[in-house]
Amino acid sequence: MVDCSDSPTRKPLLRALKGEVLNPPPFWLMRQAGRYLPEYREVRGKVHGFLDLCYSAELAARLTLQPVERFGMDAAIVFSDILVVPDALGQTVEFREGEGPRLAPIRSFDALRRLSLDGFCDRLAPVYEAVRLARRALSAETALIGFAGAPWTVAAYMIEGGGSADFAAAKGWVRERPGEFRGLIDLLIEATAMHIIAQADAGAEAIQLFESWAGLLAEPRFTEWSVGPMREIVRRFKRVHPEVPVIVFPRGAGALYAKVPDGTGVEAISMDPAVSVDWAARELQSRCVVQGNLDPSVLVAGGPAMRREVERILAALGSGPFIFNLGHGVLPNTPLEHVAELARLIRRWRA
Ligand code: CP3
Repeated sequence: MVDCSDSPTRKPLLRALKGEVLNPPPFWLMRQAGRYLPEYREVRGKVHGFLDLCYSAELAARLTLQPVERFGMDAAIVFSDILVVPDALGQTVEFREGEGPRLAPIRSFDALRRLSLDGFCDRLAPVYEAVRLARRALSAETALIGFAGAPWTVAAYMIEGGGSADFAAAKGWVRERPGEFRGLIDLLIEATAMHIIAQADAGAEAIQLFESWAGLLAEPRFTEWSVGPMREIVRRFKRVHPEVPVIVFPRGAGALYAKVPDGTGVEAISMDPAVSVDWAARELQSRCVVQGNLDPSVLVAGGPAMRREVERILAALGSGPFIFNLGHGVLPNTPLEHVAELARLIRRWRA
């Protein structure tokens, strides 16, 4: 057992983020609040638009707590979305039932110029209030995570106007009009830094940056448009909140994962399911805390396949600084019993 008598915090997630090896490791799940939970669907049914949920501080705080109350994760993540940032910059953002996000695409310099930071934090005030309410309600053992999308990923949705298999329009901008693209990225650096600083001001104890579309960028564009902007955000954030750890999730970055810890200056890196845990133990874990990376479809499957995978991940990474998580978000068709079983498997594990 780890002696925590001299630990500045009782929260296992925050101890792990400081580099402590915990046995068993702490865990939480990306998208742990969402449609797989009946109590989420009940609240979701009461409001029309998904953004109305994000901008109702009380409902967002309640949704933040739901998975922790049911499964006892070591962290809650504030209920919100990465696309509240373009919304608060003045872009039209909608979530249509069963279709995912729809944004009025930014395709011209004029459209770009209409975005503005005026009133940005006012528009997002309910998110910060949700952080305050959730923090107050959490136990002394459970940490609260704030989050934002990284600039490249958010820019990709802003330019494309929604989800896409290849984000061809966004990649076209990078290639053909890098000067204009720089303008958008600089705006997002500023907005994202403000947004995570405000979440930490309100009580978020760790921050995760979601670079969900890192896998679309090869070098040298990965360093220029993903790592560089994240580093600048982390630098601005740490000037105000040096003690609040940052996790980044550069989904699909492959071998470029190796560039992220030193390149960005973050405390922890979250890995998608394709990252080899043995490689991560050798190449990443000596440089930062690692988080991940059970395949969400394995959580849907459950049973012996899940037990084997969980054991394999824990055996490879559990004796270093580690946070158990999925390699991407919980899928809507995930059975509740499988999440409960996953929680038990992790809690029972000993190195
Ligand atoms: O529990 C949590 O993790 C906190 C809440 C959270 C949501 N979105 C709520 C949500 C977080 C951390 C996100 C991050 C997010 N949002 C990302 C990065 C992580 C990733 O999945 O790669 C991205 C790319 C988005 C953008 C987004 N939001 C998409 C593409 C969609 C539609 C697809 C889908 O899963 O429905 C959303 C909607 C969304 N965000 C839902 C939830 C619970 C579902 C909305 C509903 O109830 O219909």
